[in-house]
Amino acid sequence: MSDKSKAIVVGVGPRVGLGGALCERFAREGLHVFVAGRTPEKVEAVVMAIRNGGGRATGVVVDTTREQGVIALFDRAEKSAEGVLDLVVYNAGNAALGQVHDMEASFFEEVWRVGCLGGFLVGREAVRRMLPRGRGTVLFTGATASLRGKPNTTAFAAAKAGLRSLAQSMARAYGPQGIHVAHVIIDGGIAGDKIVKGIPQFAQAMGEDGLVSLTGLADAYWYLYRQPRAAWTHELDLRTFKESF
Ligand SMILES: NC(=O)c1ccc[n+]([C@@H]2O[C@H](COP(=O)([O-])OP(=O)(O)OC[C@H]3O[C@@H](n4cnc5c(N)ncnc54)[C@H](OP(=O)(O)O)[C@@H]3O)[C@@H](O)[C@H]2O)c1
Repeated sequence: MSDKSKAIVVGVGPRVGLGGALCERFAREGLHVFVAGRTPEKVEAVVMAIRNGGGRATGVVVDTTREQGVIALFDRAEKSAEGVLDLVVYNAGNAALGQVHDMEASFFEEVWRVGCLGGFLVGREAVRRMLPRGRGTVLFTGATASLRGKPNTTAFAAAKAGLRSLAQSMARAYGPQGIHVAHVIIDGGIAGDKIVKGIPQFAQAMGEDGLVSLTGLADAYWYLYRQPRAAWTHELDLRTFKESF
């Protein structure tokens, strides 16, 4: 990492969410962060928070399932700010639920497009730019469903398992060429707006420290990024002390 390093985080929603927390953390550490999400107001809120704190950020509205949009995001990040693209996070996900017998094919496909195809597009554009330099870090966000399908996580678990396989293949293909690829399994609900504001009864029922901490997650992603290449983690799992697993 140098003073001029750049990061792209794809799948940024509310400021108090994992994508937002990662962007703010990377900016605090000195990276110029490209904040990429599909809702302009949410992207703008994260960019403003970073700039108000003295950091550097550029917002890009992108649907990560659209190939041309993802390519344009990376082209813009490469050209529009000083420095080298050194860190990319694929964080988009949609924990959409449903069972096989009453699921439309279009639903399954859409969940897969966000959970897996988008990861492929982002991972591909990242390594295409990092390989000539022989360095860079690509991190993928996983979930409990990355390892285990349940009756109603049909489409989501299939997509997340696919994303995990993609990360493994990329790590084995590009690690020897200097690119660190890692997958983070978040085993439990995250203490962000999605749960705390979206399903407050659930958040309350989980009690003190019952949801995975955003600060703890941001620390873990930063730790992965800063690992020396002679001691790389490929997969990390995080959960609260209360989680049975
Ligand atoms: N939330 C949890 O409790 C939890 C638990 C375990 C693992 N995870 C994983 O953690 C990651 C992020 O979690 P999160 O849902 O809590 O949200 P988050 O980090 O706050 O934001 C992720 C954002 O990705 C955006 N997104 C969805 N589809 C997209 C697309 N096609 N193109 C661009 N952006 C898109 C959504 O934006 P909009 O808000 O604008 O739609 C969403 O808010 C996901 O990979 C998820 O599977 C979450």
